[in-house]
Parts: sequence; C-alpha cells; structure tokens
Amino acid sequence: MSIQLKTSAEIGKMRVAGRLAAEVLEMIGEHVRAGVSTGELDRICHRHIVEKQEAVPAPLNYRGFPRATCISVNHVVCHGIPSERKILKNGDILNIDITVIKDGFHGDTSKMFFVGNVPEHARRLVRIARECLFKGIEAARPGARLGDIGHIIQRHGEAHHYGIVREYCGHGIGRAFHEDPQVLHYGTPGTGAELRAGMTFTIEPMLNAGTRHTRLSSQDGWTVTTRDRRLSAQWEHTIAIHEDGCEVLTLREEER
Ligand code: MF3
Ligand code: CO
Ligand code: CO
Repeated sequence: MSIQLKTSAEIGKMRVAGRLAAEVLEMIGEHVRAGVSTGELDRICHRHIVEKQEAVPAPLNYRGFPRATCISVNHVVCHGIPSERKILKNGDILNIDITVIKDGFHGDTSKMFFVGNVPEHARRLVRIARECLFKGIEAARPGARLGDIGHIIQRHGEAHHYGIVREYCGHGIGRAFHEDPQVLHYGTPGTGAELRAGMTFTIEPMLNAGTRHTRLSSQDGWTVTTRDRRLSAQWEHTIAIHEDGCEVLTLREEER
C-alpha cells in the first residue's frame, strides 16, 4: 500500500474539481421532487458537468457503470443506477453521489435529499449520518491515524443503534478515482496509517436504520441494498490534509 502525497499545485487542482462536484449538488436540489425520475436527475447533472463545467463525470463507464451519477433511494445503500423507471415519491430519501474529473483530478461528494414530507425516523437517520461525516472530518489532521476517524464514526453511529456499513469505505483520491488508503468507517483509535499533510481522501459513512449487512444486486452487479430492506443514508466529502488540520474540498455554500 502506498499513499501518495500531493503537492500544493495538485491540491489546487483538486480544489477546483471539488468545487465543481459540490456545485452539481447545489444545482440539482431544486429538481428533486415527487414525480421526477432518477434517470432525469442524472441527465440534468450529466449535462451540467459536460456543458457548463467542461468536466467529465467519473462514474460513466467506470468499470462498466452505465450513468454519470449514482442515485440511491431509501433502502439502496450506494451505487444506485439512475433510471427513467425509478420515479421519486413523497417521503423518499435519496443520496446523489457526484464525482467529476477536471484537469486530470477528481472531486467526489454526496448528500442526502428529501422528497416532500419525510418521517422523523428517516430524518434522524440522515442527520446522524451527516454528524458521523463531520466528526470524521474533525478528527482528520496530521498525526492522527485512520483508525481514529473510523472509530469516531462507528462510535457515533452505534450510539444511536444504527448499523455502520463495512463493505464500502472512503478512499484516497487524486488523478485516480480510488487510490490508497482505504478509509474505513469503523476501527480502533491509534491504529492504521498516520495522516500527513498532502494526503487527499474521501470520508463517506453509510448508516443503516437496521442491520449493517448489505446485498449486492446479481441483476445489475452494482446496486447495493440493505439486507433487511430498511433505510440507509450516506454523506461524502473529499478532504485534503494540511499542516494545521484539514480542508474540505467539496464544501457547499450551505455548509460554510
Ligand atoms: N462515487 C462513489 C464513491 O464515493 C463511487 C462510485 S463508483 C461507480 O466512491 F462506478 F458506481 F460510479
Ligand atoms: Co468516494
Ligand atoms: Co462518491
């Protein structure tokens, strides 16, 4: 395993890619409503990335993935394939995961959206998942270890009796979509690689309302669902480690 450190010029390019990915999530919010298909949301994002941003949607054709974004509704944990047949309805929760490539570098981020009136138990799951992401981000600084990030996320999720998904994790990112290290969302403090300035990686915890266990669709080879078909929520940011802490490269205006 080798974690490649980025120069400040490279982080500058990742800042641009990250900003573009964040901007797609800012743009798409007003289109998320009952009656729209996830395929339509994907086409709007795809067009925006290619035409307005002059960037490339990283998922498209990545290991054969067929669309520009991942859209994961309700009990879909991650890697949902956008479809004209999947129509959003009142009460749905969904994750839109955007990865763009600009000037050779990737920016990867996702957020949860609500459709109409979402029950309190679902909003709570979404809120705690977001808190897990930000607790992980707060732990990310030089000298900390990857296990510190995993532990704090696991502790917060499990304190609320949610299942923390283990089969999928955050990842180093840069010229490649997925680089070393793997960023697990569970772990033991003081273990794992030590963080150093120049590292760039994602944190992207997935929390399940029930069991942590997942199932991969044998139909399409991509769609990951909760094994018990209860709800799942995920948030993701791309960060860079600096001498004095970390920078969130995909921060949205609403989070500033
Ligand atoms: N964006 C996802 C991640 O956070 C990866 C999607 S891979 C794809 O790592 F092929 F499904 F697009
Ligand atoms: Co990612
Ligand atoms: Co992603």
